[in-house]
Amino acid sequence: MEDFIRHLPKVELHLHIEGSLEPELMFELAERNNITLPYANVEEAREAYHFHNLQSFLDIYYQGANVLLTERDFFDLTWAYLMRCKADNVMHTEIFFDPQTHTGRGIAFDTAINGIYHALRQGEKELGITSQLIMCFLRHLSEEAAFETLEQAKPHLHRLVGVGLDSSELGHPPEKFARVFAEARALGLTTVAHAGEEGPASNIYDAIELLHVSRVDHGVQCTQDPALVELLAQTRMPLTVCPLSNIKLRVFDRMEDHNILSLLDKGLCVTVNSDDPAFFGGYMNDNFLALNRALSPSKEQLTQLTRNAIEAAFVDKDTRQSLHQKLDDFSANHGVH
Ligand code: ADE
Ligand code: ZN
Repeated sequence: MEDFIRHLPKVELHLHIEGSLEPELMFELAERNNITLPYANVEEAREAYHFHNLQSFLDIYYQGANVLLTERDFFDLTWAYLMRCKADNVMHTEIFFDPQTHTGRGIAFDTAINGIYHALRQGEKELGITSQLIMCFLRHLSEEAAFETLEQAKPHLHRLVGVGLDSSELGHPPEKFARVFAEARALGLTTVAHAGEEGPASNIYDAIELLHVSRVDHGVQCTQDPALVELLAQTRMPLTVCPLSNIKLRVFDRMEDHNILSLLDKGLCVTVNSDDPAFFGGYMNDNFLALNRALSPSKEQLTQLTRNAIEAAFVDKDTRQSLHQKLDDFSANHGVH
């Protein structure tokens, strides 16, 4: 089964590029940019990656991003992630970046997006991995700051497929960003939002009703409300679930307790994603393998997880068709019905 999982074609829809900064690259960039890190070495950094909730992670995550200064740094970060995609048979990826994490410390919006975007284009040409870019607003910052960020994005709209909402969920509900999301939609951007990760099921309703999201990031708290689970199944609203992240941030105590397969069996469009792989113990294969060890999914369930991600991807008809074809070919070759 582990071999099957490693070779399974995959689509990733929930990945924070800043969360793919491995300690090795963090040290390399710190040296290149003359920055002193709060860790003596790579091992000490990894040792610090023990979290008790979302906020305890975010504090360390934002600190790590301080080593990213130049376009080349953002390029190298994104390229390193794409190499992991290649190794894990990820055919298509839709990545988040947090412009405010960078503009807030004096790095230009253009510096971040140029580096990331050029790496994504090179990944398409040289690795055959298609991609999309989603800009997230930090929800612990103000509505006004989000509007400013949207303004900075205007010269780059052709490079963005949508906007998202991340950072501290508790105390920062979707309604705070209803107006800036409305403007983003008016500019032709799709919308997604983190909701129901640590926060209540009502945040999932509100992301759908007030932010008009096309996908919900995480969403695993939906099981607090059976009517919501029913609605998500009926509408096939995609949930971008992140199994290893949920364990590291104590959303579930143990992978054996994770609800992804039970939601899958109820007909929800759940997908598997790595969120912040450098901090949570792994990339796409690691997430699928961890699910396999704890929950023993069938080959049909595993392929359905990729089929859901293809259904939920922000791609044109031809790209979606070609992704489905690759998965169908794999299934036929591996006796999946
Ligand atoms: N930013 C990076 N990872 C995140 C997560 N899991 N939840 C909220 N904000 C994030
Ligand atoms: Zn996330």
